[in-house]
This record gives sequence, structure tokens and C-alpha cells, in this order.
Amino acid sequence: MDEKLEQIKEYWNQRIHDMEMTEHALGTLGFFNDLEAYRYEKLNYLPGVVNFESFSGKKVLEIGCGIGTDLVRFARGGAIVTGVDLSETAVDLAVKNFRLHNLEADLRVGNGESLEFPDNTFDAVYAHGVLQYTADITRMIHESFRVLKSGGVFIGMLYNRKGWLNAMSSLFKVDLEHDDAPVFNLYTQQEFKKFLGLFHEVSIVPERFPVKSRLQKGWKAFFFNTVFVGFFNLIPRAWVRQWGWHLMGFGVKNDA
Ligand SMILES: C[S@@+](CC[C@H](N)C(=O)[O-])C[C@H]1O[C@@H](n2cnc3c(N)ncnc32)[C@H](O)[C@@H]1O
Repeated sequence: MDEKLEQIKEYWNQRIHDMEMTEHALGTLGFFNDLEAYRYEKLNYLPGVVNFESFSGKKVLEIGCGIGTDLVRFARGGAIVTGVDLSETAVDLAVKNFRLHNLEADLRVGNGESLEFPDNTFDAVYAHGVLQYTADITRMIHESFRVLKSGGVFIGMLYNRKGWLNAMSSLFKVDLEHDDAPVFNLYTQQEFKKFLGLFHEVSIVPERFPVKSRLQKGWKAFFFNTVFVGFFNLIPRAWVRQWGWHLMGFGVKNDA
């Protein structure tokens, strides 16, 4: 593995996404339940755009599965799930998460830019919040394409350079979460579409609009929660959709 990927692995071995949102001990049921509740409060759009229940009996691979919160949802919906993450810390926790929920998964430490699965293995590849942190996004997307079966779907999420959160962060001089990671890239809708050029039926859907934050404190958080969130959400979604912070990208492998 090259040096950049080693740095990425090291960074994510020492951090667990959203960990500050729980007081429960690491790896306990309370810990996983708190992080799951926080995730779907913040990403309230996600179950609406990813139908976790619709993959029953299908083989789903998650690249950069972290502690396995979304993968648990796929598994609860009946999918046969595999999760890969560069970070040993994340995979160890994902194993505990699945065990505590009495669910089965094949969970492995691995690099999403060089997957150890044969061609045409999965019905779906899911990569949420990973493409922007990896060393070579093109390689990760190529690998996703390779391991998908014909007719399989790719579902990815990366951050929108033109998103409202990036604008707020510059204006109020508040760091974006994990902008200190060894790789942290923001992209436009056009760039994401280009990355997905191998796929058919590509669509990019901006999502993740402001919701009240429990993460930040102080007057900036007060202003954000009491003024900005309410005001922003009064504006018709169609007018502001292009500024959604998360770009959800979808594509179908069709090599017939
Ligand atoms: C922000 S976390 C997101 C975790 C999870 N997908 C979520 O949405 O909560 C980013 C994850 O991507 C993983 N990651 C980054 N580059 C990777 C790569 N090349 N292969 C596998 N995992 C990678 C990191 O180890 C980390 O666990």
C-alpha cells in the first residue's frame, strides 16, 4: 500500500466518525444505538433515497463501512452483506456492532481502491462518505464497477464543493469535520458525474440540508440552530437543492 493510503489508514484508526455523540463505552450496544440515532437524525434524507430494505437476498458491498451503521440496515433488510474498511479500529467495531445485533456479515480490513473480490461479485456497491477521503477516487470507482455484476448498482456519497455547509464554514470560520484528514476533497456535481462515466443511468442528487446541530456549541451554534436552520428550510427545496452538502451518486453497470 502506498504512503498516502497508510496515512489515511492511520488517521481513521485513531478516529471514529461522530464518536463525540455518545457517552456510552466504546463498542457497547448503547454506543452503537446512540451513533445510529444521531446519524439518521442528521442524515434524515438517507432512508428516503436509499431503500435499505429493497436489497433482500442481494449481495451488497460497502466500501469504507466504518462501524457498520448503514450496513446493519442493509442486513436487517435481508441483504447478504460485506464490508471493507482501511481502518482496523472501524472493522473491529463493525464486527461488534453486527454481533450485538445478531446479524451476519463478512467484514474485512481492506482497501477500496484494490478490492480482493473477483469481477462480477455484487449486486450493489455502497460507498457513503468515503470517496472524498481516499487517495485515488477514480481507482475506487473503477474497482466498484469491476466487482459489480452486470445490472448491479453503485450508490456513493461525497461532499459538494458548492454545498451550503462549505459556504457556512468559510463564512463563520468553523472547520469542516475531518478536513484535517490526509485526503479531504470536495467535488462539483459535474465532476462526480464524470467520475461515474463508466456507469449507465447516472444521476447525482444533492441532499443533506440544514438540521439542528448537537455537535457545535457557543453563539455560532445558537445562530445556526435558531435562525439559519429555520430560515433555510422555509425556502422551497427545489430552489436550494443544488446546494445540498451531500452529493448522492447513482449508476448502473451495464456491460451487455
Ligand atoms: C467518514 S468515515 C465514513 C464511514 C461510514 N461510511 C459512514 O458514513 O459513517 C470514512 C471511512 O472511509 C474509510 N476509508 C477511506 N479510504 C478508504 C479506502 N481506500 N478503502 C477502504 N476504506 C477507506 C476510512 O477508514 C473511514 O472509516
